[in-house]
Amino acid sequence: MDRDSDRSCMPAAATPYDVAAIRADFPILQRRVHGRPLIYLDNAATTQKPQAVIDAEADYYATTNANIHRGVHALSQQATDAYEAARAKVARFINAASTNEIVFVRGTTEAINLVAQCFARPQFAPGDEILISAMEHHSNIVPWQLACRQTGAVLRVVPVDDAGEFDLDAYAKLLTPRTRLVAVTHVSNAIGSVVPVRQVVTLAHDRNIPVLLDGAQAISHRRIDVANLDCDFYAFSGHKLFAPTGIGVLYGKEAHLERMPPYQGGGDMIRSVTFETAEYNDLPYKFEAGTPHIAGAVGLGAALGYVSAIGVDAIAAHVGDLLADATARVAEIPGLRIVGTARKKAGILSFTLDGIHPHDIGTILDDRGVAIRAGHHCAMPLMQRYGIDGTARASFSLYNTTADVDALVAGIHEVRRVLGG
Ligand code: ALA
Repeated sequence: MDRDSDRSCMPAAATPYDVAAIRADFPILQRRVHGRPLIYLDNAATTQKPQAVIDAEADYYATTNANIHRGVHALSQQATDAYEAARAKVARFINAASTNEIVFVRGTTEAINLVAQCFARPQFAPGDEILISAMEHHSNIVPWQLACRQTGAVLRVVPVDDAGEFDLDAYAKLLTPRTRLVAVTHVSNAIGSVVPVRQVVTLAHDRNIPVLLDGAQAISHRRIDVANLDCDFYAFSGHKLFAPTGIGVLYGKEAHLERMPPYQGGGDMIRSVTFETAEYNDLPYKFEAGTPHIAGAVGLGAALGYVSAIGVDAIAAHVGDLLADATARVAEIPGLRIVGTARKKAGILSFTLDGIHPHDIGTILDDRGVAIRAGHHCAMPLMQRYGIDGTARASFSLYNTTADVDALVAGIHEVRRVLGG
């Protein structure tokens, strides 16, 4: 594997983990918000972009831009090569068997909708069951509700306990001869729990049930090896991995993708068309109707190079240290309740403050330049499970520092001082 060989994507940072050098790669971290230095702790919503990614996208438009898979001219060929090189980088990054298994989509949401419409809808029948967990965000709930309405299938939900642990025993009992698909998150976006997906897949496969993993949060926090996970589908968004918005990936085992009909028609997904019918293109193009986000794919390729050069494991260790530090320090704040105390968590600290609305926490922190997310985090059923409207959520990434944790903790004390929590 030569995943680190693209020098243009190499960060200034060197080992050992050099957070100051990494921060210097992200221009936005230099800016001020409300007159204060930006403390960006909303990485679960989207990550910031390193100069290498910004340059790769700008350079593509400055030097290479053309439509792909169509033209006979040089630019079109070079644009096609750049797009397909990005696909090959994705395949290597997640250890897919082939680029045929890598479908470029807009993001996790579109990837899951694709599986709902192309895998579930054509096959499922009344009484079939789709199994999700209580931790899913809306993008891994609503597409299945749509598929259930279209087919008569039924949605079943694996519970989570008070700490936010996925209930494996309940899961095993919910796997029945009626279960046609398991679709669960790898890491909870709202409370950070890491789901034991290896066991989830094994238990499902013992019964010949395919598994989709929603990797939107996991992709920037752990090494993803789809061959080792043996999942049938894996979905993630580029923008949570330092790449541009509007580009994401559906990984699918080739045998599944081959059998699935497309649900969007248009250029690139056909081999031939008459007014009567159309012959579909090979994988993965069958699922890529219309001109794709070519520059986004190029940016994603650069982001993978950037992350790989630092090392996913090194990033995970850094973020884990920050989360442990922040968790210990906020736990001492009177009236603060941490929502989600699973044994394994990834980069996400959700909390409430007695008598204070999460939006007020977010607003006062914003005044101090500290960006967090407040609300239901697109996971309303999970909030209902805990009897709350929402939480304040700080989420950490590779460029955050202990000083950022200091600012978060000081900001929460200020919230309590101002609003009397
Ligand atoms: N799913 C994203 C989040 O958790 C948008 O903020």
